[in-house]
Amino acid sequence: MVDHLLGIEGLSKTDIYRYLDAAHSFVEVSERDIKKVPTLRGKTIVHVFFEPSTRTLASFDIAGKRLSADTINVSASSSSVKKGETLLDTVRTLESMNPDVLVIRHSESGAARFASQYLTRSSVVNAGDGSHEHPTQALLDLLTLRQHFSSMKRGIEGLKVGFVGDVRHSRVARSNVWAHLALGNEVRLIGPTTLVPSDFAGVFGGGVTIEHDLAAGLKGLDVVVCLRMQLERQDEHFVPNLDEYSKEYCVSERLLKDLAPSSVVLHPGPMNRGTEISGEVADGPRSLIRRQVNNGVAVRMAVLYLLARTVESHETGVVA
Ligand code: NCD
Repeated sequence: MVDHLLGIEGLSKTDIYRYLDAAHSFVEVSERDIKKVPTLRGKTIVHVFFEPSTRTLASFDIAGKRLSADTINVSASSSSVKKGETLLDTVRTLESMNPDVLVIRHSESGAARFASQYLTRSSVVNAGDGSHEHPTQALLDLLTLRQHFSSMKRGIEGLKVGFVGDVRHSRVARSNVWAHLALGNEVRLIGPTTLVPSDFAGVFGGGVTIEHDLAAGLKGLDVVVCLRMQLERQDEHFVPNLDEYSKEYCVSERLLKDLAPSSVVLHPGPMNRGTEISGEVADGPRSLIRRQVNNGVAVRMAVLYLLARTVESHETGVVA
């Protein structure tokens, strides 16, 4: 049976650590002079991106190449999608060429799962589906936190984690919240009522706290995750305007210094400096943002490896 990575919801703590442990061993490969291992030689990975992407697409592509797989990128703007081909027809056409893994990004929630139900031979990785999930982003965020907190002799359990901003439309927040709940962490969702509706906790079956006041929400956090306003997914006005929004919800060093002095800050990118995060925080010592981008490659190597490995590479270990 082929395996997929469609979301974090439903993964156990053991599943999450399995990905993180594999990613940990791939971090070192990217630090070598020759950044390539033969682990997925002869495997084919197709990236099908129906939405724009810089980091995610580049790091999946680099990850596949560092594992010696053959990779190709199909983007909506240059493919038959432009000519009206449906997701299903596109995916089935690509599967006829026998790829081992299809990495899919799509604006519709549920697109990756939908595709996986029709594919018989290829694994599907969800690289972001609408406002639903972005599992590899959550895993790279956790890897980044694990590196940081292990250097302080702490693990990634027992943390207080807050998500600030457009939680409603953020697939990054959803995947991360599921992950932190699986790890037993305290989760706070912070933002205006339009972007963090009071009944939103129900989405996660309880277990999260909602806070509409930024200062109250930040108080005592270990981790602050800033989220971009997802204007492309908003079909109505959720905030009066971005200036008003930033006055109330921009995460600044002045606030963090007082309310969460030892916190670290994550942002999945792309960032809007001065809207959801100040430049001072983004470039300051508590920012792990560059490390996140760097870890994107190792996490995607781990995911591709765990889904597409052959019996032999499994037996000889992760990194050849
Ligand atoms: C995120 C995404 O596409 O969901 N970006 C990313 O993958 N690095 C977040 C965003 O677009 O705001």
